[in-house]
Amino acid sequence: MWYHWGNYVRDDGKGTGMETKRWRVDESMDEAKLINDPAIQEAASLLRDRRLVAFPTETVYGLGANAQSEEAVASIFTAKGRPSDNPLIVHIADVESLDQWMEMTPQGEALLKCFWPGPLTLVGRHKGTLASGTTAGLPTVGVRIPSHPVARALLRCSGVPVAAPSANRSGKPSPTTADHVWQDLMGRIDGIVDGGVTGVGVESTVVDVTGEVPILLRPGGITLDQLRSISGEVQVDPGIEQEGLVPRSPGMKYRHYAPQGEMWLVVGDGEEQRSKVARMAMDAAQKGQRVAVLTTEENRDTYQVDHVISLGRRDDPASVARGLYAALRTCDDLGVDVIYTEAFPVEGIYYSVMNRLLKAAEGRIVT
Ligand code: TXA
Ligand code: MG
Repeated sequence: MWYHWGNYVRDDGKGTGMETKRWRVDESMDEAKLINDPAIQEAASLLRDRRLVAFPTETVYGLGANAQSEEAVASIFTAKGRPSDNPLIVHIADVESLDQWMEMTPQGEALLKCFWPGPLTLVGRHKGTLASGTTAGLPTVGVRIPSHPVARALLRCSGVPVAAPSANRSGKPSPTTADHVWQDLMGRIDGIVDGGVTGVGVESTVVDVTGEVPILLRPGGITLDQLRSISGEVQVDPGIEQEGLVPRSPGMKYRHYAPQGEMWLVVGDGEEQRSKVARMAMDAAQKGQRVAVLTTEENRDTYQVDHVISLGRRDDPASVARGLYAALRTCDDLGVDVIYTEAFPVEGIYYSVMNRLLKAAEGRIVT
């Protein structure tokens, strides 16, 4: 049974009882070989049949459906419990088909030449050829060509444009493994193509290219510096920065990536930051709270609490992006009450990491 609640769809906790198939494919194979894999062919045929299939991309796992089918797209929102006013990203196999779905501008053209296939979503005016559920009724659509060989093979084999949000239940961190998808969506979707751990770890960068100057709507796998090296000027949507360093901003939209425990982001340099995190964690533990510290390889041995989780190497920002969502899920699995997290300098891919951490912390910052 499903209950409609405003823009949200809630389930009664029993799931849909749907059988979810799971295939393991070898992500080290190239796209041409993968196209002949029976698992890819079966998954592609489900997509053509307007069914839901989760698959790996280079950023995170996506929950795919035929972007031209109202029925298929509606079932994405149901399976995820996603607000229906949040548009989906359309994934396509190659740039030749772009023209069918979206009006490209010279600004967008310059960016796609550099970053497609890859973790960049371009938002432009659509042509009315996609389901209105895909675009949430907006005049624009976000499109990207992923670089992951499994995603590419599946898209090519399906022959349809594939709308795919991250394959998590709404409000949970995006999935970076097939197990994450399984935990969230088993019994609610038709299949999961397991292609191992995703590489980038944060979602694609979303850029509006409808105007003269591109506007960054969501930081992600392609950095602001990379965008500016091609476009010169790139504006940043004020909504991104405002969530930034405001000390405490509750509100539904920040719950997006939030773990169940109360998360605090601790700003500072080197030893000062480490000792602040250590002190706060010890204080909380002494009060009987279950505590986790989110840190990096360099610092992990310096903390004395039960749960010390490393995101990656501080001197390798890409590794931190890759480990971020799995670490947030681990916090939920451990059932900790409070999480202290080392903040990172807001630059390069760390800009995207900090954007997600700020949402997870719902604005709780210790300066
Ligand atoms: O890396 C990714 O982008 C992953 C993988 C699966 O490709 N997908 C993903 O989708 O993160 P989702 O639905 O979780 O996030 C899509 C974001 C949302 O913030 C949505 O509001 C925005 O893109 N978006 C999509 N279409 C848009 C549009 N027409 N205008 C403005 N924002 C749009
Ligand atoms: Mg998402």
